Amino acid sequence: MNEKEQWSSRFGFILAAAGSAIGLGAIWKFPYVAGMNGGGAFLFIFLLFTLILGLPLLLAEFVIGRSTQTNAVSAYKMIAPDTKWYFLGYLGMGTSFLLLSFYSVIGGWIIYYLLKTLTGTLNDLTPEQYNVVFANAISNPFVSISAHFLFMLTTIFVVSKGVQKGIERASRFMMPILFLLFLVLIIRSLTLPDVVRGLTFLFEPDFSKLTSEAILAALGQSFFTLSIGVSAMVTYSSYVPKEESLPKAALSIVFINIVIVILAGLAIFPAVFSFGLQPDAGPVLLFQVLPNVFNHMPFGMLFFLAFLLLFLFASLTSAFSMLELQVAIVAKGDDLLRKKWSWVIGLSIFLLGIPSALSFGPLSDFFIFGKSFFDLADYLVSNMLMPIGALLISIFVPVKMKKSVLYAELQSGGGIPMYLFRVWLFILRYVAPVAIFLVLFDVLGIWDK
Ligand code: PHE
Repeated sequence: MNEKEQWSSRFGFILAAAGSAIGLGAIWKFPYVAGMNGGGAFLFIFLLFTLILGLPLLLAEFVIGRSTQTNAVSAYKMIAPDTKWYFLGYLGMGTSFLLLSFYSVIGGWIIYYLLKTLTGTLNDLTPEQYNVVFANAISNPFVSISAHFLFMLTTIFVVSKGVQKGIERASRFMMPILFLLFLVLIIRSLTLPDVVRGLTFLFEPDFSKLTSEAILAALGQSFFTLSIGVSAMVTYSSYVPKEESLPKAALSIVFINIVIVILAGLAIFPAVFSFGLQPDAGPVLLFQVLPNVFNHMPFGMLFFLAFLLLFLFASLTSAFSMLELQVAIVAKGDDLLRKKWSWVIGLSIFLLGIPSALSFGPLSDFFIFGKSFFDLADYLVSNMLMPIGALLISIFVPVKMKKSVLYAELQSGGGIPMYLFRVWLFILRYVAPVAIFLVLFDVLGIWDK
């Protein structure tokens, strides 16, 4: 997409931004991080962060993008010339570089399951057998690296051609189908024997389980699912026409996201307990649970296939936004450069992802700071870099942008009452930076001394 190009329809931007937001974060990451952090209390804090911090920050990124209509680095330069704030664009670039490197590994797992389901080899196994099949696959370097490669290849291909628009149009019907399949999944899950334990785990907050690490994980999770803190949303909103109401767009994206997170939780947790799996199994959780849920239902494998296709689609649309952000910075609207840089950056991301892909096999005993390469990359991105990026963006907007420009951006295409505008600014200026700062430092143990 050229820099001056815009989304094709009013709805186009919401679809694109929702496409960036909805992906592995809500469907794969949320259940496992919630599972590792006690369930209900985690969900509660996650929702709180999403509404109080995520929503205003998402809107902040939208405002930066649309008011400047350019890539993430130039946007900061344009607003705050002769300052170093533009490094926020590079921070976003670096963060999404690392992010996509492990994101694509999980995307690869979906591709693997797709192929397995297509060949009919996932029919009628026991929960233990499913675990073994999956563990064997992800620990096999050839399988995990090729699957990761396929996912990256698709991402590079689409971004290099700048055809996201077409893809975004496809999400107009893909997303509703994904939603329907979730309902099928949930009906199935809610009729399993251990449904009460699953629901209790997900919805009953036990705040004694909330460690400072869990609170940081919830903060990171809410930024991760909304694609906040890496300027991906700055980039996408730079293609938005003025007639679009940014507050409305932000609100719908947050809403859809919360719905998907809850649907994913409803689909997964009753099944976890019913099939004797562990809620704290980590990144493999969703993939251990899914085949069991689809297995004993009528047309199960067909539904599974459809689900995987849509899940892959949702993850790809998020991956596009991560690569797009980086390519937009270096290609600056030039189509030839776009092509070249999509491949250079995309293939480098593939290489960086290899140790993450091997973290479930040959490198599973290789720890840095007590974490596997995959876990370390994920931790750095979700629990450090994204919160830091978000913290800086929340300071940047009220400090560096004129109130009149901010107000005009929020009003254009719809508008919100003055008091909400004030609340928004107040959150950005005070609440968000202080909250993020406290949560980050709490984990570093600064308050314990
Ligand atoms: N929000 C995406 C997801 O939940 C991940 C993402 C983060 C995408 C940051 C772009 C930028 O899967």
